[in-house]
Amino acid sequence: MRVGIFSDDTAIGTVAADLINELYLRKPDAVLGLATGSSPLTTYAILTERVKEGRVSFAQGQAFMLDEYVGLDLDHPQRYRNVIDREFASGVDFPSHAINGPDGNAPDLVSGAALYDRSIAEAGGVDLQILGIGSDGHIAFNEPGGSLASRTHVGVLTEQTRRDNARFFDNDITQVPTHCVTQGLGTIMEARRLVLIAQGAGKAEAVRELVEGAVSAHWPATIMQMHPDAWVLVDDDAASALDLADYYREVWEKSRA
Ligand code: GLP
Repeated sequence: MRVGIFSDDTAIGTVAADLINELYLRKPDAVLGLATGSSPLTTYAILTERVKEGRVSFAQGQAFMLDEYVGLDLDHPQRYRNVIDREFASGVDFPSHAINGPDGNAPDLVSGAALYDRSIAEAGGVDLQILGIGSDGHIAFNEPGGSLASRTHVGVLTEQTRRDNARFFDNDITQVPTHCVTQGLGTIMEARRLVLIAQGAGKAEAVRELVEGAVSAHWPATIMQMHPDAWVLVDDDAASALDLADYYREVWEKSRA
């Protein structure tokens, strides 16, 4: 794992945007894995600027979203498909048909999930997957206790996740859906590069487990320790519970020099 610890969000976003930028310069038809949530917003804003400046283009690219709530109206502002359109896709030059997301309203959610999993493989797999992390250690919507090898599936959200996400639903947990469709941990692990972003003290425990804990279904993100090319980009607060933070800083400096 490469652990980068930064004092501000712009520094995190710049590193993540550079990795994506380099990928698309090298491989213009690359497949990008998109995460919703607040963690990657600065990265998306930096990439949007760069597209406007002509420094990067997604015109030949494709994207796959990680997850979706079940049962939100198609025009609900918190439906992840709408969030991604609003916060990233509408400002960059992906062709509109090139952004894919799990269908949280499919009449048969289980076969819809399997179909989505296959469509990622048929597109050649994800080249770079952006990830956030939940305070309970979930990535995408893979909650504790699930299979570390799962494929895209229908899941049940923990109360912790629904509480965390209530801020997007008028601070009313009863409005937060109970179910989701999410790429599985096995699906996510097939991406060629993983880039996880986390900020704030609320993520410190999950980040400690992710980087230094035992690989376990209790903290689903720990499966990333088994990935050969995983990057963890965090701010000082999110890094505050790491035992070896000073060492990671040193490694980061020396491997960039
Ligand atoms: C949400 C999403 C994840 C996201 C994570 C962190 O519930 N399903 O994809 O990465 O939790 O969210 P945030 O970045 O807003 O802290």
